[in-house]
Amino acid sequence: MADPFLSIQNVKKSFGNVAVVKDFNLDVGAGEFVSFLGPSGCGKTTMLRIVAGFEEPSAGKVFVGGKDVTGLKPNQRHIGMVFQAYALFPNLTVAQNIGFGLKVAGMPRAEADARIAEMLNIIKLPDFGDRYPYQLSGGQQQRIALARALAPKPKLLLLDEPLSALDAKVRLSLREEIRAIQKKLGITTIFVTHDQEEALSMSDRIVVMNEGRADQTGTPFEIYNRPSTKFVANFVGTLNVLEGTISDAASGTVTINAEEIGLKGKLNGSKAGDTLSLALRPEAISLGRKAGNDSNLTGQIADVHFLGSVIRVRVGVGQSVVSLDTFNSPNSPPPVVGEKTEISFSSGDVLVLH
Ligand SMILES: Nc1ncnc2c1ncn2[C@@H]1O[C@H](COP(=O)(O)OP(=O)(O)OP(=O)(O)O)[C@@H](O)[C@H]1O
Ligand SMILES: [Mg+2]
Repeated sequence: MADPFLSIQNVKKSFGNVAVVKDFNLDVGAGEFVSFLGPSGCGKTTMLRIVAGFEEPSAGKVFVGGKDVTGLKPNQRHIGMVFQAYALFPNLTVAQNIGFGLKVAGMPRAEADARIAEMLNIIKLPDFGDRYPYQLSGGQQQRIALARALAPKPKLLLLDEPLSALDAKVRLSLREEIRAIQKKLGITTIFVTHDQEEALSMSDRIVVMNEGRADQTGTPFEIYNRPSTKFVANFVGTLNVLEGTISDAASGTVTINAEEIGLKGKLNGSKAGDTLSLALRPEAISLGRKAGNDSNLTGQIADVHFLGSVIRVRVGVGQSVVSLDTFNSPNSPPPVVGEKTEISFSSGDVLVLH
């Protein structure tokens, strides 16, 4: 990236002798929306706090707008942050909460009032200025926390699981709202979540974190379709894993449950007899043979869940069970548990996991 707006370079962080962030590198472009996605405890909040200046890295540097901010205090960094446990000041009104950073910065009253009104409009709560936090729903409090972070016009917005406390429906609408506001203001944003769907649907790019490291950084499309590690493949989306044994590395033949499939060009560096894990997304597998699918395996229907428009079927193949989805069709009855069946897929869709 030519001129990243945020650059995190070789950052490490240990608490005592426990390494929580291990050599983290990331460049974020101006106006970009990047998610940190990973399981609980993998270091997402710690990394965000280092960017904000609440935590000092044990090694490495953070640059914002080309300037080294590693030694600067949080209030010198022009960063807006919404914390994981959104903490509005309970004794201040909504307007006072939003105006808090403006007051600290010494903005004249009239100007601050105008900015507060503007922020209330942006978050679609124009008449809520005089309320106190206890008079708000969780989703409304979350929007106020966002407005408070945005009011001082930060250069960089850091959001730590801002939607985790909310119910599914509110989450969905706030997702879109946050993204719309972020785009409108063109503000560079880092969004922390452990919800893969949230990350996939909102982000320009995703950093998948695993035990203090960025396992893979890429667009949602790249992360989902071309996961570079087993961890990423498993963490993002549903994945079927079949264990196979290489029968001929040169021609790319693999045996799964005594049946052979071909994986041209995917077995570099392997030899006959090696075992490997082959992964397939549910949407890449068809029940029965299908035109265009060059690989077939025999299995047995293990269970069938009728979900309405979609029927989720699990098929036992040797020691493994694979999930696949078929669309409901009123004129063809769903498969029956215990039936023998074939599944088919294109060898091009098989991921070889290392
Ligand atoms: N101040 C601290 N002192 C000691 N250990 C800490 C401190 N802060 C965080 N940790 C540890 O560092 C690890 C990473 O914590 P962090 O809060 O960054 O995780 P996270 O990815 O944000 O997880 P979650 O999804 O649960 O919020 C955890 O094991 C945590 O216990
Ligand atoms: Mg956290």
